[in-house]
Order: sequence, then C-alpha cells, then structure tokens
Amino acid sequence: MEKLVVEGGVRLRGTVEISGAKNSCLPIMAATILADERCVIKNVPSLADITTMVRLLKTLGMRVEYEGDTVVIEPTKERKFIAPYKLVSTMRASVCVLGPLIGKIRQAEVSFPGGCVIGPRPIDLHLKGLTALGAELKIQRGYIIAKAKRLRGATIYLGGHFGSSVLATANTMMAAVFAEGKTIIENAACEPEVQDLADFLIKMGASIKGQGTPRVEVLGVKKLTGAEHSVIPDRIETGTYTIAAAITDGDIIIKGTRLDHLTAVIDNLTEAGVSITHVKGGVRVRRRGGLSPIDVTTLPYPGFPTDMQAQTMALMTMTKGISVITEKIYPERFIHVSELNRMGAEIHLEGSSAIVRGVKQLSGAPVMASDLRASAAMVLAGLAADGRTDISRVYHLDRGYEQIEEKMNTLGARIWREKED
Ligand code: EPU
Repeated sequence: MEKLVVEGGVRLRGTVEISGAKNSCLPIMAATILADERCVIKNVPSLADITTMVRLLKTLGMRVEYEGDTVVIEPTKERKFIAPYKLVSTMRASVCVLGPLIGKIRQAEVSFPGGCVIGPRPIDLHLKGLTALGAELKIQRGYIIAKAKRLRGATIYLGGHFGSSVLATANTMMAAVFAEGKTIIENAACEPEVQDLADFLIKMGASIKGQGTPRVEVLGVKKLTGAEHSVIPDRIETGTYTIAAAITDGDIIIKGTRLDHLTAVIDNLTEAGVSITHVKGGVRVRRRGGLSPIDVTTLPYPGFPTDMQAQTMALMTMTKGISVITEKIYPERFIHVSELNRMGAEIHLEGSSAIVRGVKQLSGAPVMASDLRASAAMVLAGLAADGRTDISRVYHLDRGYEQIEEKMNTLGARIWREKED
C-alpha cells in the first residue's frame, strides 16, 4: 500500500486546472444505461471511482471505452441487471445504476450499499421514489431486488431527516424518464451535479423541467437517443485548492472552474479573510491579511457543502480564535478531528459540532486517511504544518482527486508517494 508524504511550509504559487466533477460524472455515466445509442462523456476525471463505474457498466453489458478525459458508452444486446457486491462495496455511488436499470430494463438487482466511515447512509429515499413510480422492491441476501411491470408518473416528496438527497433525486429522475405521464419530485436536491445529470438526460431526449430547484418535473418519453456531454468542473476540488492557497498564505490562479457553484464556500471563506476574485484566465485566491475564525454549518445546496467541511476545519485549526463547524448532513463525519489533533490542532466535539480553537502552528505527524474529504484535509494540514506529514491509505484520495500531488507540486508543494512500511 502507498502513503502520501507532505513536506510542509511552502507558500503555494502558480496555476492549477480543475478537473470534471466526479459526483456529476458517476450518475451521468449510469444514465447511459437508458440510451439506445452511443453516448460520449467528456471532461471525465481520471479517478478510481470512474474506473469502478466503467467496470460496473461493463458488468451490466455496456461497451465502454475510456481514453484520456473521454468515456464512450454504447449498449450491447447482452444487457444484464445485477450490480454485484464486490463493485458496489468499493463505491457507494454504484447505487445510481438502480434508477436507470428499472427505467430501461424494468429489473434490477443492486447490492445494498450499507454505511461507511462518514456515518449511516440509508437509501430509504431511493426506495421511496422508485416505489412511488410503480417498482416493486425487496431486500434479499444483501441485494435490492427490483421489478417494475409498468412505471407511472407520480408526485413524490423526497425529503428525509437531513433534507434532500442527491442520488435519490438522481435515481428517481432517471427512472421517471420512462414512466407514463408526469412525475413531480418535491424537495428534489438542487446540487449542480443533479442539474448536470438533468441537462444530459434532456440532450438524450428526456423532458425535464425545474432541475436545480426543489421541484423537478419529468414527463415520460418512449426512448432516449445517444448524446454528447461535457461534465461540469468539480466544485469540491476548486474549494480544496482555494483552501490550499489560504492555508499556506499563497497566491494561486484556479482555471476551468465555476464560482457560481460555490457561493456558500466563497461567502464563508471571504468572511474568514480569503480573497477570491475573477482575473483574466481564472480565479485568483490569496489572503487579504490575517485570517479570522468563522462559524460554518453544512446544509444541502446552495448551503455550505458537507464535502468541504473537513478542509475548512483544517484551515480553521491555525486561525486565531474559536470557530464552530456544525455538520447537518452527516452528523458523524468527524473522523478527521482526531487526526488533526495528532498534528497539534485543538478541536473538540460537542454532538455534531466541532469547536476549533486556532493554534499558532501544526506539526507534521503520521496520520490516517479515513475517507475522501478527510484525506484532503490531511493534505491541507500537512501543507501548512512544520515538517513531514505521512498520510496512509492514500487510495481514498485517488477515488476523488485527480493527480493531487502533481497538481499541488505544480504550485510549489512538496508531496510524494512512498511505499507503506
Ligand atoms: N439520506 C437519507 N435517506 C436516503 C438517502 C440519503 O436519509 O435514502 C440522508 C443521508 O444520510 C444524508 C443526507 O440524506 O444525511 C444527504 O445524503 P445524499 O443522499 O444527498 O448523499 P449521496 O447522494 O449518497 C452525494 C455525494 C456525497 C455527498 C452527498 C451530500 C455522490 C456520488 N456522492 O451522496 O459525496 O457528500 O451527496 O452532498 O454524489 C464525496 O464526494 O466525498 C461524497 C461523500
């Protein structure tokens, strides 16, 4: 197994290019199951999760070619409907083949995804949406077994204890594309990745209105054609590099991104003293002066994204004063707290809030990556810490950050991989 070594203390400078959004790309790739023809997806990031989705689609009888940043997907006559445990267990997002399989083949057997280190991850809303459209679902031998003789449009309220759900909205929308009549999804997730998926489905011939709002309307159609689509830039990668500049007191240009997808992050970081401005050719990020503590609460879009919570906490560990970071999407998503404290941070948990007392300096230490965004927080903390930080279980990062050490090193960072002892 490999670990990532970060030698801290360099102020980042230079230009970084943002990749396509993983969380847009995965459901969009799954949506090609609905098409009768070849689809071309561009701006695809080179990530372990994308490779897993390629394998899953091949298992389901799709022909997939993945070269550079383009994936070409074509249906074959050998359609299958079983998404096996060994693939779903490595990537929870595999559950987003459920909606397209029910929509197109009217049958699906998808391994039940289960929880993960960021806490329980129920799928009741996925099942609610698909059942409302007429699918019959049961859980057997660890699989969701689904059948649908007929799919009919329905009005579905898709809100749970923690608000809307990104992939439940995606699954319901994808199955509804072939349901008879009109489907209305109330409390739909508004995340840009859901909008991107809807835009792709529309290019394929779907009739969808209201994407990006809490009320999405889908009018059933008989077939979908192939389509070509370029995935939106990754807003979480953008946010992560923004914090990399801020935490190292650097000055960087971020290219190929969309700040309109990051309003809450920009608002909070600006309040903390980070300057984020459009300049020719990109977005310039640097500090305005000293940083101030901020209170942040994660919420569904357009609120502050849970996927930026750990990285923001890393920034606050060295910001004088007290910051309170409250997690309202995954109340247990705090595994990074103990690792940051190993580096000298002073964070304690009160329920689903982290109270961060800023310290003068973090010091490098061996730490454990526990999930994708927590791993990113370790890299950020390592960039600003004294000495060397060894981050084990680097495979988490490879699931969601394209070429992280190459991109960071272009900005002057000193990051490399070593074999774990
Ligand atoms: N929830 C339910 N019931 C459900 C589904 C979700 O109660 O049936 C709850 C969840 O437990 C959570 C909240 O609803 O409290 C939101 O979860 P959501 O369903 O929106 O999460 P997801 O669709 O499974 C996607 C991203 C996650 C990101 C969340 C929240 C993908 C592939 N994954 O997951 O990304 O954290 O939305 O924005 O799109 C990551 O990239 O590191 C990552 C974890």
